[in-house]
Amino acid sequence: MNEPGPTANPHASAAEVEQAWTDTKLAQVLYHDWEAGSYDEKWSISFDERCIDYARDRFVAVAGATGWPYAKALEVGAGTGFFSLNLKQAGVLDEVHVTDLSPGMVAAAQRNAERLGFTVEGRVADAERLPYDDDTFDVVVGHAVIHHIPDVELAFREMLRVLRPGGRFVIAGEPTRIGNWYARHLGRLTWEATTRITHLKPLQDKWSRSKEELDESSRAAALEWVVDLHTFDPDELARTVLRAGAVDVRTVTEELTAAVVGWPIRTFEAAVNPERLGWGWARFAFGSWQRLGAVDRALSRVVPDRFFYNVAVTGTKPG
Ligand SMILES: C[S@@+](CC[C@H](N)C(=O)[O-])C[C@H]1O[C@@H](n2cnc3c(N)ncnc32)[C@H](O)[C@@H]1O
Repeated sequence: MNEPGPTANPHASAAEVEQAWTDTKLAQVLYHDWEAGSYDEKWSISFDERCIDYARDRFVAVAGATGWPYAKALEVGAGTGFFSLNLKQAGVLDEVHVTDLSPGMVAAAQRNAERLGFTVEGRVADAERLPYDDDTFDVVVGHAVIHHIPDVELAFREMLRVLRPGGRFVIAGEPTRIGNWYARHLGRLTWEATTRITHLKPLQDKWSRSKEELDESSRAAALEWVVDLHTFDPDELARTVLRAGAVDVRTVTEELTAAVVGWPIRTFEAAVNPERLGWGWARFAFGSWQRLGAVDRALSRVVPDRFFYNVAVTGTKPG
């Protein structure tokens, strides 16, 4: 049974938006409720082989492939369910519970699960105060979430509290400090160059997005400054998790050339008329990301891990 909870508010009032500039949790809810309806499209999230493989590979990279399926799993900051629903399809997780601060996201994750033919329990919940008893879950997962949480150590304490002794958490897809720096700069340069070029007269009709869409993207980019709270140095992240009480802690970083090329590609896609980019483009983008992933795995033997874009961390609750 799902807990009754707050309902989604995809159209924030001007007063709420004003308040959100100084209230980070309100900003998370407004921003993510607003994004929930278009989130999968914006981030090319799917629940087919491509994303099942992606989610499973991120999990395996940091936590290995033993002990599957985890019988009872919780996802924090689940969004539309990208990580846990695909991990379930990959056979990594069995019973899935999704939580998110944004009611719109919890509803979207449950809708996605229904479309896939199963149900997941969903609760609107703050990762800093999880509404579950101690020792409830075999695994807690999260993807691209802890950089939004004000007190990261407290969130890990909560994950450990709701894990049964010996249970594991796996948090993946968090931006590193250095990776975030180059990704943001490359993204901004690509955005400026692409919007300028596509507004030149001969290209405008076919290639540019409408002014409303570009204004909306600019507003979203402005709010990102309020909702994106942290970037991580992998060693510091490991120390935070150890302080929270975890054992067997391990971090892994991924994506260097894949991020250097991937962020401009993603930004370019957001800046141009999507009708111009067909399947050929999608195949090129995904193929490039896969090939560069192989280059990055080779580079990881010689380049320090803090230069890569994504960091994942795992650990267990003392048994
Ligand atoms: C970048 S999205 C990632 C969503 C999803 N995990 C994915 O990878 O597609 C971050 C999510 O974290 C949620 N979030 C932000 N702060 C949170 C908090 N304190 N507790 C729980 N969820 C939070 C947001 O509402 C949003 O859905």
